[in-house]
Amino acid sequence: MATRGALFYYSGTGNTELAMRYVAGKISQSAVDLIDLRTAMGFDLSSYDLAGFATFVDHGGPPRLFIDFIGSLKGCRGKPAFILITYGGMPGRTLKTIERMVFKAGMTPIAGHQLITPENFVPLRVKGFTHDDRPNEKEIARFKAFASDLNDILITISLKGDLKPRPIRIGILNSLIPQKDRRKSKKKMGPLMVDKALCIGCGNCETVCPYGAIRMGGAPSFDDSRCYGCWACYNHCPTMAIYTEKIRGEGHYREPTERLRRALSY
Ligand SMILES: Cc1cc2nc3c(=O)[nH]c(=O)nc-3n(C[C@H](O)[C@H](O)[C@H](O)COP(=O)(O)O)c2cc1C
Repeated sequence: MATRGALFYYSGTGNTELAMRYVAGKISQSAVDLIDLRTAMGFDLSSYDLAGFATFVDHGGPPRLFIDFIGSLKGCRGKPAFILITYGGMPGRTLKTIERMVFKAGMTPIAGHQLITPENFVPLRVKGFTHDDRPNEKEIARFKAFASDLNDILITISLKGDLKPRPIRIGILNSLIPQKDRRKSKKKMGPLMVDKALCIGCGNCETVCPYGAIRMGGAPSFDDSRCYGCWACYNHCPTMAIYTEKIRGEGHYREPTERLRRALSY
């Protein structure tokens, strides 16, 4: 039976997109559409037979934007769904949280995986916690096995109509780690500022801000009440003109490392 899958990803700096592209390439049973969820609020899944959701971990949980996105979906009742998260070292309960959200939206979780990747959270990169050497060989092999198993599950569902929830496991240690307080971290980050001598007015920051917190008028102005502290503007500013009180001109992560690209090529 020919099926159609909608695979959504939310990726600030490319790690998650890369991982989801790999999985999409391994799904043989469905024709898949790979969709940046920032462009797909309120998406109607009625004409699809499968959903896939990928996001990065943000303060020990799913990012605000991802939560809003799942809540906005239409026509998703009864569809099988898989979940993929990328993280920089501490995934916590994120995978289970998303599994619950998927259930609540009426979908059936069939598989989930958490892949460690380089850290893109600037305050940690500045302190040297970059994880640029991850995932290691074992972690890459586990991720690839997940993609292959997922394909097998989809074939079973398609051939036998065997659609049942398949529990996603995260290990005892992860299940004990609480979600971090995003507001506290945002407060620590302090207000964003721009060095007007460096700013070239390219508008990159406005484009990459997922929360509509930046307006260009020559240089960017920041609406602190809309900012969730995701560091996308800081990471993607080509001239490093954006800074905070404590961090300036260091710790940028613009795109997946060459190592990660090679590991996730197919
Ligand atoms: C605002 C923010 C918060 C983060 N919080 C966590 C976290 O709590 N635990 C973790 O392991 N990684 C955390 N990370 C790291 C990212 O999840 C990780 O680097 C991910 O692969 C980035 O994916 P992307 O390149 O698709 O944006 C955070 C990153 C950002 C930007």
